[in-house]
Amino acid sequence: MRIAVARETEANEPRVAATPETVKKFKALGAEVVIARGAGIASGIPDAEYEAAGATLADQVGGDADMVLKVRRPSAGEIASYKKGAIVVAIMDPYGNDAALKAMADAGLTSFAMELMPRITRAQSMDVLSSQANLAGYRAVIDGAAEYGRAMPMMMTAAGTVPAARAFIMGVGVAGLQAIATAKRLGAVVTATDVRPATKEQVESLGAKFLAVEDEEFKNAQTAGGYAKEMSKEYQAKQAALVAEHIKKQDIVITTALIPGRPAPRLVTAEMVASMKPGSVIVDLAVERGGNVEGAVPGQVVQVGPAKIVGHLNVPGRLAASASALYAKNLLTFIDTMIDKKEHKLAINWDDELIKATMLTRDGAVVHPNFMPKTAA
Ligand code: NAI
Repeated sequence: MRIAVARETEANEPRVAATPETVKKFKALGAEVVIARGAGIASGIPDAEYEAAGATLADQVGGDADMVLKVRRPSAGEIASYKKGAIVVAIMDPYGNDAALKAMADAGLTSFAMELMPRITRAQSMDVLSSQANLAGYRAVIDGAAEYGRAMPMMMTAAGTVPAARAFIMGVGVAGLQAIATAKRLGAVVTATDVRPATKEQVESLGAKFLAVEDEEFKNAQTAGGYAKEMSKEYQAKQAALVAEHIKKQDIVITTALIPGRPAPRLVTAEMVASMKPGSVIVDLAVERGGNVEGAVPGQVVQVGPAKIVGHLNVPGRLAASASALYAKNLLTFIDTMIDKKEHKLAINWDDELIKATMLTRDGAVVHPNFMPKTAA
């Protein structure tokens, strides 16, 4: 059983799919581990640490590997270098990328998308959306505070009082909850909103104030999977009016709202941005998925009227060492379920719900029901 860990090829991807700690665990499971030279550098892991953990280094990995671990979906060039039947595990970004999925199928790869992991207790330690969003929520507040020209906490000094910053968190999933906690720790006065009713109690338990139009639609706005539904036009208008009044008084706004498989909902309009106080900061964590904020520019910090809008890409990558450590652990716990501990070899249970939920391609075809090509009736 040969496991290869690739060096990420996409620009702006400093994370790596294994750490010395996970390498040791894979070795203990009976695997040989090959790491692409330099794969961990941007996450603060020198090659020597992988070697000390028992991995071998190579300029190119793939070729003879039974399994390739990556952060991002492999490029066409990478796919061509893998052997037929190889397993590839990564954050595959499958929505709207049909051609790329077909390319993996055509190459005969068995591919798994970590972000499709079901959110059940057994798979919590494999949940990359949570591990990465948690860090992104933290970093969004740090980035917002860094752009903000005032202090966050209230400070009573001999030279006068600095008021506490007002922070408003929009979208209270994993990222939003960590953003609330981080803003509280920095001393801000924190409010938060979400369309899922379950979030109200979570917001309040963190010591922040909840703000939302709590009508009948709101009370039913959660899917069985615990995700947000797209809200009606009427609800969106009511909520926007409430938010518009609130946002005028905020110093830092962090938006994290997402709906799986759909573009991010537009929560902050240009008029709302224009109504803010001079020096305000908005951090749009949804910028890669179309953005929650009108005027946010992917990969840039832009001044729009009174407010700075922060649109950093790959926010977990801005904490690459932490993000890689957690991602690598997510991969390890998932792959552990694919290994026969006695025989020390791959033994995938194709009926396991984790396998079924995450497998995109196998035996030359796209097999995931959400992404299967639509054949004419
Ligand atoms: P997400 O990344 O899909 O969305 C972020 C947040 O945006 C969500 O809270 C969503 O309700 C909110 N949102 C969507 N549209 C909005 C709008 N128009 N206005 C305001 N907010 C809007 O969510 P994430 O972080 O993946 O969490 C989704 C759920 O899954 C949460 O309930 C979370 O607690 C749960 N979860 C469960 C786990 C488990 O049981 N193993 C693990 C991790 C999360």
